[in-house]
Amino acid sequence: MRILGIESSCDETAAAVVDRGQRLLSSVVASQLGTHSKYGGVVPELASREHLRAIVPVVRQALRDASTNFEDLTAIAVTSGPGLVGSLLVGVTYAKALCYARSLPLIAVNHVEGHIHAVILEERQQGRDVPFPALALVASGGHTHLFEVSAIGSYRLLGKTRDDAAGEAYDKVAKLLGFGYPGGPVLDRLAPYGDPRGVKFTLARMKGNELDFSFSGLKTAVLRWVERHGIAEEIAQRRELQKAHAPPSMEQWLAATPQATRDMIASFQRTVIEELLRRVLVSADEIGAESIIVSGGVASNLGLRQETNRYSGYRFLFPSQSLSTDNAAMIAAAAFPKFERGEFAGFDLRAQANLPLA
Ligand code: KG4
Ligand code: ZN
Repeated sequence: MRILGIESSCDETAAAVVDRGQRLLSSVVASQLGTHSKYGGVVPELASREHLRAIVPVVRQALRDASTNFEDLTAIAVTSGPGLVGSLLVGVTYAKALCYARSLPLIAVNHVEGHIHAVILEERQQGRDVPFPALALVASGGHTHLFEVSAIGSYRLLGKTRDDAAGEAYDKVAKLLGFGYPGGPVLDRLAPYGDPRGVKFTLARMKGNELDFSFSGLKTAVLRWVERHGIAEEIAQRRELQKAHAPPSMEQWLAATPQATRDMIASFQRTVIEELLRRVLVSADEIGAESIIVSGGVASNLGLRQETNRYSGYRFLFPSQSLSTDNAAMIAAAAFPKFERGEFAGFDLRAQANLPLA
């Protein structure tokens, strides 16, 4: 029961083979960081071209690593949305072509559902089932969504961001401060060197649905802080560092980041974590969650992982670092229950930039 998963929704070209939704046989991720980092964000046109270049070798590598031939495959799963439409098209078109040529069934997977399945897959690998109802937070560069998951395949949206996604806030703040793209990993690693109470940022007050998120106010507060502190020279120095080294080491970033900025970064990180966890805990109580799934790129945040240790009354489940950010193992895993339910896609499957999960 081997499913080949293909993921190309943003800036990683990925392929993986998963057996029965519970055994990861291979996972290959070709990152485009080198292409986009100098622009401070993903350039859609370049992303599509990079996917085209990478997709065939990445799929071949995934099959090789899993010692699997096309003849051993049961189905091919692909991310059909949400994401960058030009990027999605590469994966969707390639998956369709493979299915047509090899007479295999095609399964369409929602990228956000994929992130949730990264956790379900890894629990299964350990011989455990995720206890439901679960509360799921998917926080990445494109989404910040809270779902009630009453069972596999059954999702109710409880809240989402009204402006920037959590990862996007990291990326924009990092860009503003002269750090490269993506911003999350750099700021996360710098945060322990600053005082998280050093700068007071106010938490977002949401009218209407209190489980919605907003990060644009925090981003603007950082911008105001930067303007008030006259740190243009320091920022220019980091931009130079970025050009000279690809990417700079942590020591180099630290040497180029004075204490006041470190304190601001630590405070920014603390505020994002507080915004996320506050809503997670409230909604987990509301739905009587037996477990809390945290997934998406922001789930690799060390500060966030550490903070959840304080809440021993809740069962937090994080994916391993490599399955937190975009990958195809989660797509192949999410496809397995669809295969069992006979939920197949036709060759008219479209790439959809917006594709709500619930
Ligand atoms: O899930 P992902 O690989 O792609 C999307 O679906 O968007 O997430 C990438 C996002 C980026 O915004 C990146 O800055 C953020 O996840 N990210 C982090 C960390 N690692 C990646 N944000 C905060 N802390 C991290 N350690
Ligand atoms: Zn993602």
